[in-house]
Order: sequence, then structure tokens, then C-alpha cells
Amino acid sequence: MKILAIESSCDETSAAVVEGREVLSNIIATQIAEHKIYGGVVPEIASRRHTEAISAVCDEALDSAGITYNDIDAIAVTFAPGLIGALLVGVNFAKGLALSLGVPLIPVHHLRSHIAANYIAHKELKPPFLCLLVSGGNTVIAEVTDYTTFKILGGTKDDAAGECFDKTARCMGLSYPGGVTLDKIATKSDFNKYPLPYPKSNGEYDFSFSGLKTAVINTIHNAHQKNEEIDVPVLAATVRERVCDMLIDNTFKAAENLGYTKIAVAGGVSANSELRKRMAEECEKRGLELYYPPLSLCGDNAAMVGAQAIFEFENGNTAGQDLNATATLPIDYR
Ligand code: KG4
Repeated sequence: MKILAIESSCDETSAAVVEGREVLSNIIATQIAEHKIYGGVVPEIASRRHTEAISAVCDEALDSAGITYNDIDAIAVTFAPGLIGALLVGVNFAKGLALSLGVPLIPVHHLRSHIAANYIAHKELKPPFLCLLVSGGNTVIAEVTDYTTFKILGGTKDDAAGECFDKTARCMGLSYPGGVTLDKIATKSDFNKYPLPYPKSNGEYDFSFSGLKTAVINTIHNAHQKNEEIDVPVLAATVRERVCDMLIDNTFKAAENLGYTKIAVAGGVSANSELRKRMAEECEKRGLELYYPPLSLCGDNAAMVGAQAIFEFENGNTAGQDLNATATLPIDYR
């Protein structure tokens, strides 16, 4: 079954042709250069750029797969969660395509598709497993009990991990997308130079990142008031260390308590070099299997939407022309 998948939840317009776990094409038009001058994604600009790009991106996905619209068996689209105006572009385009081609329309939850990036990279990976989902807008630990059944164990009570990286990076004067830049310039030299807190949350597997963000902002302001230079590579490394501490502690606590031997990491922040390294070390120490996507599939892309779509379709999850975009929706929605 050949699926044309569409993703437009934030600042990447992407279309892919996917057949099972095989990716026949995956085209991504990124808007990073445009949002960079504002230091973050401007939702209205994102929606407009999706509108301009989506038709050509879909055409290119088909060309690159060597097929035409007539060879497509279904259309899949990210419908939630994300920037509402941005999502609406993809959803409406997908509805039009499904109607005109007379093929099923498959709505895909954005976080489920981030997990499915792992199915593309690891053909042998099957639920059940535990997943740490870390992106710009979400931080969740979930049990993936089946391809379309999820149980949320915990999540952030305030900012997402990616948001914490992006905002603290911005305060350090690093360019957007901050998480990526912060990861590149972070050095490990001296973790005691800037003693940052380890914010705790009440829930057993929950996270809190806003206290860490505030501590970094205060550290920078205090230094400025005293006319002191901030050692940005060291501060960046300390933030990265704290975020990783929290993500890793909760993930392995959940794995141990619930007896999981397979752990997957997904979402944009799964590209973080320190997180990947420490997760791998910890899994090796405990004899657990670790899965994460290749860097090319960590960020938003349509191939992962197509990879999840086949399971949604097999589970009877198709939509009609009344499909709407939704800005917030938990991964375990029914
Ligand atoms: O999953 P994603 O592409 O978009 C959302 O669905 O949110 O995640 C984007 C987030 C941004 O916050 C970005 O800074 C972060 O992922 N990110 C990273 C790295 N690469 C991307 N954060 C830390 N280290 C990285 N290497």
C-alpha cells in the first residue's frame, strides 16, 4: 500500500511516499532561515509558507518516488498537535487530495509519528516498549503497548525539553534553532561553574523545566549586572547536562519499575548528542535494548507520518471530509 504522507505541524513542509516501513521519498522544505531572524517560529509566517510550498513538495515527493498521484492508495496527514494554522494547511490539502483521488484519508497524531520514525530505522522494532518522547513542544514518557495504543506515564508540567533548550540558548545569544546550536557549542569542562537546579515535579515520572530555564536567565542577568562575561560553552553544557539528568532518571525509573527491556527515544531532541550518548551508556550498563532514529528522521518529516499511518489504517482509523486540525491532543486519544 503506497501512502502519500503530509506533515505541516510547525516549520517544515514535508511530503513522503511510504510503503510499509520502506521510504520511497521524503521531501522537506524547511523555513528555518526565515524564522531565524525572529529567534523562533512565527505561527502566521509558518502557515503562509506551508501554503506556498505544499503543492510543489507533494509533486516532488511523487517524482522522487518515481510514481504519479494515480499510484497512491491513501493520503496520510498530521492533524494534531501543533500550530493550528500550520496544521490546517496540511489537513485541508490532504482532504482535497483524498477526495479528488478517491482514496482513504488517514489522520496521524504528530507524536505517534515521531515514535514511528524508529520503525523506519529499525525494521525489527515491535511494541511493547517504553518511549521517551522529547520535542520542541512535548516531553512525555509513554508505554507503547501496541502500534496504536499508548499509556502516558508522565510528562512535563510546564515547558518541554526542546523549549527549555531553545529559550536558554536564545538568552545565551545562540542562533535559532537554539537546541541544535547549544548542543554543538557545549563543552564539558566545568559543571560546578554555574550551579543550576534539578527541578523536581510531584508525579513519579513527570518533568519540570521552567525552573531550570529561569535559573539560566537569572545567571545571565546577574553576570551582566556585574559586567562579567558568561562562559557560554560551559553554561550550555551545564543546561544540557541537567536536562539529560531529568530525562534519563525518569526514563530508567519507569523502565525498572515496569520491567521494560526495550527503550525508544523520539522527537527533535532525540538528536541531542549527549542524550544519545548517555542513553546508550545506561542501556548497555543495564542490558536494555535502545532505539533512536537516525538524525535525518529526528526532526519533523512526512516519512514518519507515513510509517505510522499504515498502523492507524489497519486499526480502522480513517477520516472523512469533516477532519479538523487540533492544536493540543494527548498521544493516547481515542
Ligand atoms: O520534533 P521537533 O522537530 O519539532 C516538534 O515537534 O516540536 O523538535 C524540535 C526541537 C527544537 O526545540 C530543537 O531545538 C530541538 O528539537 N533539537 C535539539 C537538537 N536538535 C533539535 N535539542 C537539543 N539538541 C539537539 N541536537
